[in-house]
Amino acid sequence: MSTIVAPSLLAANFLHLKRDIEMLNRSEADWIHLDIMDGVFVPNISFGFSVINQLKSVTQKKLDVHLMIVSPEKFTDEIRAAGASFMNVHYEACNHLHRVVQEIRRKGMKPAVTLNPHTPIALLDEILPELDMVLLMSVNPGFGGQQFIESTVRKVARLREMIEKRNLPTLIQVDGGVNLETGRRLVDAGANVLVAGSFVFSSDDPEETIRQLKAL
Ligand code: DX5
Ligand code: ZN
Repeated sequence: MSTIVAPSLLAANFLHLKRDIEMLNRSEADWIHLDIMDGVFVPNISFGFSVINQLKSVTQKKLDVHLMIVSPEKFTDEIRAAGASFMNVHYEACNHLHRVVQEIRRKGMKPAVTLNPHTPIALLDEILPELDMVLLMSVNPGFGGQQFIESTVRKVARLREMIEKRNLPTLIQVDGGVNLETGRRLVDAGANVLVAGSFVFSSDDPEETIRQLKAL
């Protein structure tokens, strides 16, 4: 299976959002990664439903919604209405993670759980078989353009081992500081899905950059 590439819209030019979505539509990007921040769970606020609701009318790409918010379970209906394929919730934001995951699946979306850099993968032991994807953060969430945290590569390898041992189909996604160099090492360690924001959108040729990430 080739690497799944999910450019993060956070790094797009919001004054030219349609132009940037059209670029993604032409590109080999598989999904569009949408970062929702509430200023509480993370120290930043991004965009909300008024933006993401518009996207399904201008793209066929799968929408991968990464919720960096407290109480993400309150918004399963809104996220579904936006046309999300994946609803990504943080382990650290859910007291009743199993219930949230069941609810996401019941509403026809694929559940994914995100771990902050400090959160050990051992905490996924019980929930792993219920998940379509695990997102390992390779920066502290809240901002694009941060430096890649090196220990993520080993974390990916350990999660890959855990998944293979149990013969699960769970995808491993990585988000933060992804470029061709870090991406290569992440894919070698067992990552299936690469999120990239600034690396794609600050490139002189974003379509070619997406192609290169896909070829990793
Ligand atoms: C950070 C977000 C990321 C961000 C990645 O909190 O979850 O998706 O857009 O940006 P880069 O690729 O620039 O590190
Ligand atoms: Zn993200």
